Amino acid sequence: PTLEKDMLPLYFGWFLAKRDEDNLRKTAHEFLEQLGNLKAFKKHLQAFSCEDKHKMDLLKYFAKTPNILHCTTKFCDYGKAPGSEEYAQLEAVRKGYSKAFTLHISALFVTPRTAGAQVELTQEQLHVWPSDAEKEAMPKDVLPRGSRAHITLGCASDVQDVQAGIDLLEFVKLQQAGREGENMGELLGGKISYYDSGMWMLVLPRKKEVKTIFSGYYG
Ligand code: 2AM
Repeated sequence: PTLEKDMLPLYFGWFLAKRDEDNLRKTAHEFLEQLGNLKAFKKHLQAFSCEDKHKMDLLKYFAKTPNILHCTTKFCDYGKAPGSEEYAQLEAVRKGYSKAFTLHISALFVTPRTAGAQVELTQEQLHVWPSDAEKEAMPKDVLPRGSRAHITLGCASDVQDVQAGIDLLEFVKLQQAGREGENMGELLGGKISYYDSGMWMLVLPRKKEVKTIFSGYYG
């Protein structure tokens, strides 16, 4: 009999353990609530499309939240996405499959399209990070490996799933160009900065560790 090829998932990624997932959802909730109440935020609402700017509620704005909080490594689309097969066969991916990893969240961000958490990958974690992940999203730029790593916290209506990683790369591009963002004070004990076009980033006072399992999502 012929051997069947391995089934490829919709995507590979690190999936947060329940307790850390609940905790991160809570932090995201507080972040969105407090950012929405910030005077400086209310002054810079032009980029957000909402009918009534006085009733702008970020929790409602980002009503589309993922079922399982995770950090996607490779979107495979069940094998239809280029490079899926090669990725699934990487030794690091095979070895890491179903293993526990601790991810480090360094910042939270909001744009008119998405809300997300920036993830700083360790050397070990970079081994299961696709080599072309940044190039694929930003073909014209040279960005540090792993700089697309994120956990989507919410999307505005009509925004595609893939957007949060692209939004994060926009921040990274600005930072690489020496743009620090305008300091708008403190939120959750961290520094909140504004980067134009409705882009906000909160650098956490301490990196937040979350326990995850590296696996595939089949949907
Ligand atoms: P996300 O990683 O930014 O949350 C299912 O749609 C998952 O795959 C989501 O987690 C989504 O985005 C991610 N995803 C969807 N399309 C993608 C693409 N073209 N490239 C990378 N990730 C993608």
